[in-house]
Amino acid sequence: LDQKIYPPLNHIPADIVRANDYERVAANFIPPDRLAYVDGGSGHNVTLRANVDAFTKYSILPRSLKDLSEAHTQIQLLSQTYSHPIFLAPVAHQKLVHPRAEIATAEAAAATDTCMVASTLSSFSLEDIARNTHSQSWFQLYFQAKEADTHALLQRAIRAGYQAIVLTIDASIQVPSDSALKANFTFPDDMQAANIIHQSSSLTPAAASTNHKSIFLRYMQTAATKERVQKLLSVSTIPVFIKGVMSDEDALLYQSLGAAGMIVSNHGGRTLDGVPACLTVLSQLRNAVGKDYPLLFDSGIRSGADIFKAIALGADAVLIGRLQVYALSVAGALGVAHMMKLLKEELALCMAIAGCASIEDIKHSKLHRNTERQ
Ligand code: FNR
Repeated sequence: LDQKIYPPLNHIPADIVRANDYERVAANFIPPDRLAYVDGGSGHNVTLRANVDAFTKYSILPRSLKDLSEAHTQIQLLSQTYSHPIFLAPVAHQKLVHPRAEIATAEAAAATDTCMVASTLSSFSLEDIARNTHSQSWFQLYFQAKEADTHALLQRAIRAGYQAIVLTIDASIQVPSDSALKANFTFPDDMQAANIIHQSSSLTPAAASTNHKSIFLRYMQTAATKERVQKLLSVSTIPVFIKGVMSDEDALLYQSLGAAGMIVSNHGGRTLDGVPACLTVLSQLRNAVGKDYPLLFDSGIRSGADIFKAIALGADAVLIGRLQVYALSVAGALGVAHMMKLLKEELALCMAIAGCASIEDIKHSKLHRNTERQ
């Protein structure tokens, strides 16, 4: 497995000066079929592109006359303090791009005081990851075909010390990108999801055929249902965030069921192609859940300016998906830590120029709505 990965660097290339530079450089470190899997969205990448483009519809307004001598990026979420609002999104199978995978990411999280969200489908076990984060960390949970397996994962995450659960509800079926299909991407035979390796296969024979009936059956195997969510919320002793909410009706339902918070996300454009750009639904969801309800955002963030805009439109914090993978492939823990440092500096620069002394100030700042694409 590891032989297919190009050796990562133990230094930062001089031409990486912005977080997003990792995207370009990663193409030299991730084999083309794997890059197509990581990089791609679903279908023709319409939603993937829209996610990124949506940020260009807004600009940050410069403001002066503000005292920024005490400025900081700390946030409070459910009575916990986080030193900055930039979290590492759950990303599966990190061994595809680096032999030390999530362990390296966890080290970078620790070095940059970043909250890492570890995926159910990680290459290393959730216990191994927890031992290396040394900073706040959350665990992302997928409903498993068997309820007992789902609840076993929850209990393991609680025992390992994760502070919250992120229940992802938008990926019971994922449509691969055309580019991954054309590149003939398949998971290597020895690629394992360490957390669930002991489970018997969750695929029923019905799932192997492609008629529409089997699509619905496959979807329902691991889909969120009101009963499953309620049960999980009732047994979890740590807060549960719902990831993948795009409609205000769903947001209100999850809120009424008692979810601690939500992540507005379309999975980085990786579920169904054609769903709206994630940023375009954010303000509406913030209005629906109210100003004090924990609401996080991901999908399409490539810079500190994007983070500023997402917060101005209603997010309390954001998660970083692809940039994390790109940085990991280039220089392992060093790369991810450097990428996080760049994002934090890019955000701080936006705050300074926009006259924001805190993340709270960003929420009260107005974005300029561009009339034409810039
Ligand atoms: C993901 N994402 C994801 N989400 C999740 O809840 N569990 C998972 O295991 C994964 N795995 C995963 C793998 C890869 C390769 C990617 C690119 C993404 C989605 C991720 O958490 C996040 O929602 C998006 O990546 C955010 O969009 P950006 O930042 O990639 O544009």
